[in-house]
Amino acid sequence: MRKEIQVKITYKKGIHTRVAAMIVQKCQDLMRKYQCKLFIKRDRDNSVIPGNSMLALVSMKIVEGETIHVFSDSDHTSEAVDEFSRFLGGAFLLEQCNLDEIDNIIQNNTLASEKVFDSIVNGLIVVDHNNVISVFNKAAERITGIGAKEALGKEANDIIDTSKLYEVLKTGREQIAFKQKIGNSTIVTNRTPIIADGKIIGAVATFQDISELENLSSELRSVQDLQQRFQHILENVDDAICMLDKYGTITYVNPAYERIMKIQQEEVVNKNIGEISPAGIRMQVLKEKTPQFGRIIRKGNGTEIIANVSPIIIDGEMNGVVSVSKEITEIKRLAEKIEELSAKTKYLQEELSKKHEINKSFDIIVGKSGVLLEALAVASKASETDATVLIRGESGTGKELVAKGIHYASNRKNKPFIRVNCSAIPHNLLESELFGYEKGAFTGAVKQKLGKFELADEGTIFLDEIGDMDKEMQAKLLRVLQERELERVGGTKTIPISVRVIAATNRNLEEMVEQGAFRNDLYYRLNVIPVMLPPLRQRKGDIPIIVEHFIEKICSKYGMQKKRIGKEVLSYMEAYGWPGNVRELENVIERILTLSREEIITVRDLPAYIGVDKEEKSFRETAVAVKEEDDEIPTLEEVEKALLALALKKHKSFHSAGKALGITHKTVAAKARKYNLI
Ligand SMILES: Nc1ncnc2c1ncn2[C@@H]1O[C@H](COP(=O)(O)OP(=O)(O)OP(=O)(O)O)[C@@H](O)[C@H]1O
Ligand SMILES: [Mg+2]
Repeated sequence: MRKEIQVKITYKKGIHTRVAAMIVQKCQDLMRKYQCKLFIKRDRDNSVIPGNSMLALVSMKIVEGETIHVFSDSDHTSEAVDEFSRFLGGAFLLEQCNLDEIDNIIQNNTLASEKVFDSIVNGLIVVDHNNVISVFNKAAERITGIGAKEALGKEANDIIDTSKLYEVLKTGREQIAFKQKIGNSTIVTNRTPIIADGKIIGAVATFQDISELENLSSELRSVQDLQQRFQHILENVDDAICMLDKYGTITYVNPAYERIMKIQQEEVVNKNIGEISPAGIRMQVLKEKTPQFGRIIRKGNGTEIIANVSPIIIDGEMNGVVSVSKEITEIKRLAEKIEELSAKTKYLQEELSKKHEINKSFDIIVGKSGVLLEALAVASKASETDATVLIRGESGTGKELVAKGIHYASNRKNKPFIRVNCSAIPHNLLESELFGYEKGAFTGAVKQKLGKFELADEGTIFLDEIGDMDKEMQAKLLRVLQERELERVGGTKTIPISVRVIAATNRNLEEMVEQGAFRNDLYYRLNVIPVMLPPLRQRKGDIPIIVEHFIEKICSKYGMQKKRIGKEVLSYMEAYGWPGNVRELENVIERILTLSREEIITVRDLPAYIGVDKEEKSFRETAVAVKEEDDEIPTLEEVEKALLALALKKHKSFHSAGKALGITHKTVAAKARKYNLI
């Protein structure tokens, strides 16, 4: 019969690690000596373990006073059982044992538990009661990206700042299935306290990386979202859409399909196309796997549609068919609308280009404003004819430039352009200047001289400042213009002339006609095509490009490096009235460019009178034009300063300025000093 011996454990601390190692060592000796296996049964619950299993023995947690049974696997080894039971009942003195071997057993078993921890796929972190990490397995390393060497012996929160093990240590309560972020990973973790003898001696966290799961679920969400959007689009488009699977079964039709085909979806969905439309295009595409575009079909119900049908091919495999159709009546209506609109657009474009068709010869005239372009368009049109042109405009607006533009745009361009300044030539000389004279016509006429009209023959004569011509000369000019022939002064023969006449003036001819200073008939003879050049103040938008143009022109004229102009300077220039128009602007720029040494022109370089307008304007704006709806209200001081400046400008003396403002001249003087106005 198998021998079993009951043993009472008398050792005070029960069977803990070191004692277990001693037992295992003894057991191994006996098993070798007696060639048998020895077992321990715990009486408390009849559980049986091999006597040489260190981990099993420790985990049995046998305490002092507990009874166990010892037995072997054969009937012939009662001596082994005797010896083993004696050992177990003893006092476990260390000296009785081979210390090296005990250390080895403990070491091997520790290693074994480390191996166990490392082979777990979940992360495992164990802390002691001070929250100091004692176990940090391989999976924990992988998930957290932190090495065990770095983690062991450190406080959990120093290593993972989001760790909540300290809470578990404090409360003794477990935390199950908590989601938490560690670096870029999302983990789900269980945290449990380790309790021994009713005391919390540590805590353990096991966790799993669910980042991939999270990514997958967010991908799933976006796919669902996308699907919903597509669904929404399909339901709301005006095109009839029908989808078939690879077997030809209709899987989907949208509401537009129901409307256009006058059919309910229940009547077609889940039916096969072979039943519904065996000879149709969808069937054809299903069989041939090639798309069909723009096919026009007349339906049985009279609807005419245009259809695009395509195979759905995924990874080279036929997966179904989709058809997109439109009612053709709608398309026809749209096509007509497009035709109508494009005809209108074409007409408007033609009109527009007619309006601004300006000959290249006018490119020398800088400006993009509507008023200028309109004038140039008229001049350009005039250049195509021989008609007389009367150019009007204030001084410096470019009348001479336009006259030249007309000449060089006309087919007289290779013939002379002769300018006569009617105001610069004394009245008594103007006639011979214009029409020439014969030898001996008057004292000093030692030889024949051709007049400007003859010099301009086949070309253009530009009668500048025509408003300054005296009335006698006006009559003579009128005759030449009417007859198209002239007689030289002192001559008798008439000379035919073919000249295009352009006249210009900055004077108010209509008023002169009324006052009798200019001949009515000559006025009408000259004013065949009037060209009105706008003053610069009416086209301030052109100032920046004109300034740029002159900077370039003048810098290259003087071989200077190109200078730049500050924004503020432009705003001053735009505020100024330019009575001398473009000529004045050109002079100002030339003056600035030659006087300033800086690379950038600033307000300080401007002549003082240009700034005045702007400053006065801003004073006026500040002083007078404060309205309720204004965003920014000036301060009282600003208004006072502006009012004072205005009064001083108007009244010149402190006394009268003070009278106007209702204060004493002393106050005016004091305030003027305060605001640096004097
Ligand atoms: N739009 C412009 N673009 C470029 N330069 C211009 C322009 N208008 C005028 N100018 C220049 O301004 C100056 C004056 O032009 P122009 O002599 O043609 O003026 P005007 O109208 O004949 O003046 P006035 O009545 O004083 O004779 C010229 O140097 C001319 O080149
Ligand atoms: Mg001129």
